[in-house]
Amino acid sequence: MTTLFDDLRAAEFSRLDAGGHVYLDYTGGGLYGESQIRAHSEVLLNQVLGNPHSQSPTSLASTHNVNTARERICQFFDADPQEYEVIFTLNASGALKLIGESYPWGAGSTYMMTADNHNSVNGIREFAKARGASIKYLPLNRELRAENLEALLPIVDRSKPHLFAFPAQSNFSGVKHCLDWVELAHQRGYDVLLDAAAYVPTSRLSLREIHPDFLSVSFYKMFGYPTGVGALLIRHEMLKKLHRPWFGGGTVQFVSAQQHMHLLATSGEGYEDGTVNYLSIAAIPTGLDFLERIGMDNINAHVTELTGLLLGELLKLQHSNGQPLIALYGPPNMHMRGGTLAFNLATPEGTLVEADVIEDRANAENISVRTGCFCNPGAAEFAFQYLPDDMYRCFTTLDLDQFTVQQFSTCMNDMPIGAVRASIGIATNEQDIQRLVNFLKTFIDFMPTADHIWRMPSVDGLNT
Ligand SMILES: Cc1ncc(COP(=O)(O)O)c(C=O)c1O
Repeated sequence: MTTLFDDLRAAEFSRLDAGGHVYLDYTGGGLYGESQIRAHSEVLLNQVLGNPHSQSPTSLASTHNVNTARERICQFFDADPQEYEVIFTLNASGALKLIGESYPWGAGSTYMMTADNHNSVNGIREFAKARGASIKYLPLNRELRAENLEALLPIVDRSKPHLFAFPAQSNFSGVKHCLDWVELAHQRGYDVLLDAAAYVPTSRLSLREIHPDFLSVSFYKMFGYPTGVGALLIRHEMLKKLHRPWFGGGTVQFVSAQQHMHLLATSGEGYEDGTVNYLSIAAIPTGLDFLERIGMDNINAHVTELTGLLLGELLKLQHSNGQPLIALYGPPNMHMRGGTLAFNLATPEGTLVEADVIEDRANAENISVRTGCFCNPGAAEFAFQYLPDDMYRCFTTLDLDQFTVQQFSTCMNDMPIGAVRASIGIATNEQDIQRLVNFLKTFIDFMPTADHIWRMPSVDGLNT
């Protein structure tokens, strides 16, 4: 296995070593292999591609590429084309926004989410709220997992629309949530949105095994190139349930200016505004081929192995007084987790080093990790054990026009407002892990100045 990935790194990702990079932000964005760029260049250099939606040879060539990409995506996710349709979007957020604005929210409907969700899933609640739906979150436990859904997910009145949304894998903690929840939520009366953006880069997903109504992905997270293309995979029958709040070029079968009438395309194209990114979409099959040539099971095994290695190394690190260096958020083992680790560094006194300090020093070492809450405030609030009353006090007393996260932290009595995230992918090797660990070791016995210290979230779950 190591040989496969060593060879791959040399053949496809030599720019990492040439530039001395340690890239550990795969949850932020995947890296493309060189062969993907060559294959896409071949397409662009050899084909004459016009705007689709017409019958000219160059337009039909683009339409062919776009349709090929749709078929290839269905194949990759093992989706029955009789059941699912692929809608191209700018990214996963674009897919999620389409659902939010088109779902038939109303009084009596519910938008239910796990607290662990990306902001682009959280943001759907604004559409839901505006149309009278109630918003509910399911809490997370110490390992940042939602648990006991059998007891916590209420049965809902099927005469109203209800949506349950969760990520297949957390972009904050790496937790893999239970995909059986899709079926459970269906049985309880919900439509289901599965945000697979952080899961599918390293895990195989079969839409013949699970049947979410909506699935959101970003392709650059899976194979690095191109940016600007995502997809919503949607069950055909859901298209009838949604109501698009507008129409635009490319989305309609017919429009009358005089009669103020329009007929939306009945297929997913009714949700693709204007001209799709037909040049970039032509690179999607190559990206999926790239993953499948390596093998999704191999990728998963590689990422699991290196994540386990890093996790083990992190948990061993301690100061000379015996205090642990790492405050880990999420499971301390590899059970149901992907290749994303979130943590803070503790001082010998048991306080935390501000994440910015770590990021600055990592940057100087050419190590790309990410700090912050990774657009996942719910996971962060449970990781840092914020109390709802404290948050309410700060939101109501701070001048929100002058808001800074630093002020927020001060108001929260110096609670952490960010973590460090290291995420592992196809091109990661053991040297990357070792360089990160060696870098983190430089924080052993390190005490930052008082203005760069956060409090450690207390062990009993209360911000005391
Ligand atoms: C789980 C998850 N969902 C959604 C998104 C949004 O993806 P994008 O920024 O490509 O729209 C991300 C991005 O990090 C993510 O990790």
